Amino acid sequence: MKRVIFSTILALAALSASAQTLVVYYSRTGQNYTSDGIVDLKVGNTAVIAKQIQKLTGADIFELETVKQYAADYHECTREAKEELNAKARPALKADIDISKYDTIYLGWPCWWGTYPMCVATFLEAHDWTGKTVIPFTTHEGSGFGSGLRDLRAAIPAATVKKGLSIQGSKVKTAGKQIEEFLKWYN
Ligand SMILES: Cc1cc2nc3c(=O)[nH]c(=O)nc-3n(C[C@H](O)[C@H](O)[C@H](O)COP(=O)(O)O)c2cc1C
Repeated sequence: MKRVIFSTILALAALSASAQTLVVYYSRTGQNYTSDGIVDLKVGNTAVIAKQIQKLTGADIFELETVKQYAADYHECTREAKEELNAKARPALKADIDISKYDTIYLGWPCWWGTYPMCVATFLEAHDWTGKTVIPFTTHEGSGFGSGLRDLRAAIPAATVKKGLSIQGSKVKTAGKQIEEFLKWYN
């Protein structure tokens, strides 16, 4: 019964939220590390969460994709990502989205070296965040957000950055309840 009421609330929220709420995320397919060893992901972990948030809120959704592909090999990718972090690189995006009409933005990324991937910084710096409410989410294998929330707040001081949702990457397929609970705060 509780579940039915909650689903109804979310459906109503979806109707009213669809015009001004956006889910933006970066996620990488290919080899990734989990506590069970290296796995090959056809759909990235953060993408799984982003799509569930979109479904439950009725928001628009946009995937950040880099022009340059990262290596599918996990270890090679970690090397590339470290280099970008150290160089404060701003990798080019294939496409961008006009965020001006959105009040609330769910922003998701995989934890890379304890923070967000540098392509998320590319996106942040391309927009005016004045008056926006940002609800962050991340997937990781132990670090949680790391310094990601702190880095995000420093990067977009004009936005209100809310409490975030962090989910272990290898548990995304069973995270439905956790996501629903999290969304209750904002719908
Ligand atoms: C380049 C790279 C760096 C990573 N760094 C961390 C890290 O610092 N801490 C952590 O807990 N997990 C780290 N991970 C694991 C990912 O955060 C985790 O597997 C995540 O769920 C991947 O999401 P995605 O499939 O959406 O890309 C790293 C993975 C990669 C590929």
